[in-house]
Amino acid sequence: MCGIVGYVGREAAIPFLLEGLRRLEYRGYDSAGIATCGPEGLTIDRTVGKLVNLAAKLGESPSDATIGLGHTRWATHGAPVVANAHPHVGGDGEVVLVHNGVIENHVQLKQELAAAGYDFRSATDSEVVAHLIAEGLKRASEAEGADANAPYLDAVRWALSRLRGTYGLAILFRDRPDLLIAARFGSPLVVGVGKGEYFLASDASPLAGRTDRIVYLADHQLATLTPSGFTVHHREQGRISPQIERVKLDELIPSLEGFDHYMLKEIHEQPEAIRNAMRGRLDDQDATAIFGGLNLTPQQLRSVDRIILTGCGTSWHAALVGEYLIEELARIPVEVEYASELRYRNPPIGHNTLVFGITQSGETADTLAAVCETKRKGHRTLAICNVVGSSIAQAADGGIYLHAGQEIGVASTKAFTSHCCVLAMLGLYFGRTRDLSFEAGQQTIEALRSLPMWVQQALQCESRVRAVAQRFADATNFLYLGRRYNFPTALEGALKLKEISYIHAEGYPAAEMKHGPIALVDRHTPSVFLVPRGITYDKVMANMEEVKARGGPIIAIAGHDDPQVEALADEVIQVPEVPEFLQPIVSVVPLQLLAYHVALIRGCDVDRPRNLAKSVTVE
Ligand code: AGP
Repeated sequence: MCGIVGYVGREAAIPFLLEGLRRLEYRGYDSAGIATCGPEGLTIDRTVGKLVNLAAKLGESPSDATIGLGHTRWATHGAPVVANAHPHVGGDGEVVLVHNGVIENHVQLKQELAAAGYDFRSATDSEVVAHLIAEGLKRASEAEGADANAPYLDAVRWALSRLRGTYGLAILFRDRPDLLIAARFGSPLVVGVGKGEYFLASDASPLAGRTDRIVYLADHQLATLTPSGFTVHHREQGRISPQIERVKLDELIPSLEGFDHYMLKEIHEQPEAIRNAMRGRLDDQDATAIFGGLNLTPQQLRSVDRIILTGCGTSWHAALVGEYLIEELARIPVEVEYASELRYRNPPIGHNTLVFGITQSGETADTLAAVCETKRKGHRTLAICNVVGSSIAQAADGGIYLHAGQEIGVASTKAFTSHCCVLAMLGLYFGRTRDLSFEAGQQTIEALRSLPMWVQQALQCESRVRAVAQRFADATNFLYLGRRYNFPTALEGALKLKEISYIHAEGYPAAEMKHGPIALVDRHTPSVFLVPRGITYDKVMANMEEVKARGGPIIAIAGHDDPQVEALADEVIQVPEVPEFLQPIVSVVPLQLLAYHVALIRGCDVDRPRNLAKSVTVE
């Protein structure tokens, strides 16, 4: 939800902090701020809006301070105004911090601190933590001979013991211009270990190009960073030996590579992303799939009698596709749950139920909470995720990485198609331990191997899509309609349009339209029909007739050379004819492009749409 960076070392801090925030801006961009400790003491700069505003402000007064922290915000408490922008100050300025997460008991703490004489300058929950640490400093003992950092660590520990909620924190102290403390519970933080310099960030991308040695902080852990080194402590158990991992980060250096936006780049990266998802996972000898990280014994695998797929947003749509895939290929009952509901619905879950968290970022708070809840109950809980070392990947008992590469655009595209591809392989994997024949397995593998080519062919529709976007960019409502595998595709197409063009759009099973939504149909409301040839083709054609009869414009995503569709639809966008179980991956491409081009025409910020963030790390 927010991005945090920190730096301690011998070089000027601000260049790393600014570039790091730029790489994290996809996590939130309502406001941004940086604090540094230099000869002139603590300096804080904050601006509303995108990071370029902060960079301009900092450019007015360059600083050579060698320690600092930064933050880019997605507002949870308090409007996106300067007063609510991070960093926040505690006490009379002896503490400065940035926070990612939500403090659930901030109201009560604020009342206590205000009564104790602390002045609040913002409407945020985060400011409470700054004042709490300032209060903790007053209580920290100046034990003789103790580690010089001890009073500051004790102050932070004491403050954290009063909090309820989640936090990723980076903290500076006016009286210790060489010390940065980090703390993590529920919001990710990584420490980068350089040569005589140490980095802190919400994920590894800001560290690319600076170091490949990383410590993934775990919940309840704190880190102290100084120019002479870093330490890691467990909040209660004391100092621990950190596990320094070497991580190939170069690919995390974001680059548009000639595209106008990350979203368009990632739409066009899908053939390669799908190849990467399948690399080394298709087994011709046994006509099955191979996964190294499920951590399931053959007995556990065979005993699975039900699967729950849980996620949010686009990942929830991919889970719906997974339901069709796994039930068709493996004949195992699948239930799809919104993660935010699963956590509180408390459904009865049998001993042989397998739970999968479906997530691109691996940091979505609702999905993390659902995964932790089913794990707490003792159920085998796995993750299908795109970010190595992310919170959900760490929390799960095992899982499958997408290997789709970094997805920067807030609107998820290649993660959706990669999730669907992995879920198809999972269906094959489970199916071949049950009733899926060798021949059927071979046919499935053959189709999967053609998938990158089919997606590449689907991308050829872009000029056609651009023309359709021109015609309908002024509409205020869209309907998206499909059946079976293309029902979740319709939902995904509607979400793409909503979140980047701000046009209201609804996805429905095509048959469901006559049970109410058809009342919305008029000549101003385009209906997008997914109507490839298949077992429900005639039924969808009938639904198109119903819309046509009421004067509704029709945009059809159809197979090649289909005169029936051509006669009925106002616009036809052709995609390759593929086996039904792979249609979502091919048919979603024109829907992604349609959303992209409509948003462009409407002047929307495609990569950073209003009110959104790439990773929703609050519930
Ligand atoms: C998708 O375009 C949205 N950005 C959003 O719905 C996203 O899919 C959702 O927040 C889940 O994110 P995750 O896959 O990283 O868990």
